[in-house]
Amino acid sequence: MTDNMKILVVDDEPIVIKSCESVLRAEGYNVEGLLSAREAMLKMEKQPFDLVFTDLKMPEVDGLTLIRWIRKERPDTGIVVITGYPSQETIKEALELGIIDYVPKPFTPVALIDVAKRAVDWIKGPPAVDKEKEKEKEREELPPSMLNEIDRVIDQYKGKAGSSIPVLQRCQEIVGYLPPSVQKIVARGLGLTPADIHSIVSFYSFFTMKPRGDHNIRICLGTACYVKRVEEVLNKLMTDLKIDVGEVTEDKKFSIETVRCLGACGLAPVMVIDDETYGAVTPKKVPDILREYAVKE
Ligand code: FES
Repeated sequence: MTDNMKILVVDDEPIVIKSCESVLRAEGYNVEGLLSAREAMLKMEKQPFDLVFTDLKMPEVDGLTLIRWIRKERPDTGIVVITGYPSQETIKEALELGIIDYVPKPFTPVALIDVAKRAVDWIKGPPAVDKEKEKEKEREELPPSMLNEIDRVIDQYKGKAGSSIPVLQRCQEIVGYLPPSVQKIVARGLGLTPADIHSIVSFYSFFTMKPRGDHNIRICLGTACYVKRVEEVLNKLMTDLKIDVGEVTEDKKFSIETVRCLGACGLAPVMVIDDETYGAVTPKKVPDILREYAVKE
């Protein structure tokens, strides 16, 4: 399933490398870890990797320098940033350099696996075919009424500065989510690269790449929630609903998404269902909360 994807983890904290190695190897990835960006460059000069997870703050050569180097020397490599306290500015700069995603430290195994899966899907992308055929295929995935609406939205915003976010918001309203086919139509329509659009979609938590259930559960894996054992709540949700993160229940009633901070850290651990916030959630409270929604409608 992972097609022997080769992943390089670059971080000056050995513990981060160790945990990435154990979590990702268990998922079948071929993982190597290095403690500095300089070592990573030397290694990658000799040997390509499919995906690089890199820290941003490292002594001597920092992560942004490594990302710029990879973009120039190994442009086909996917990049995911793992970082402690990222400023919006640093993350934006990394996104502009075409990283696929970022995962804040400390991260849970679930969050790491989720990011790795999304990055690998993105790297694999659709098989290379001729551009016209690819364009037709993307459009075939959507009903004509949706396509017409999307085309109308793109025409309305084309050539205007800052148009990608409103266009993506409208497309998400039309389709319900933003699968790769929609992202590519938007990218082509606005004259941007699919990587530009993908970076925006992964950066803003209000965008989703997966279909959602009638009730979407967003559970926070940010630091404050993590230390208050949010992972146990997430496991209980996944067990009770019999789905993984990013999936929808068979009856289409619930979906689960993870987010990095819901801005309510004082209430940790926090989850939000639709627009309702639940603080200090415990695994024990999960069945009662879910029951509220089972009787709704
Ligand atoms: S870390 Fe969970 S709400 Fe901020």
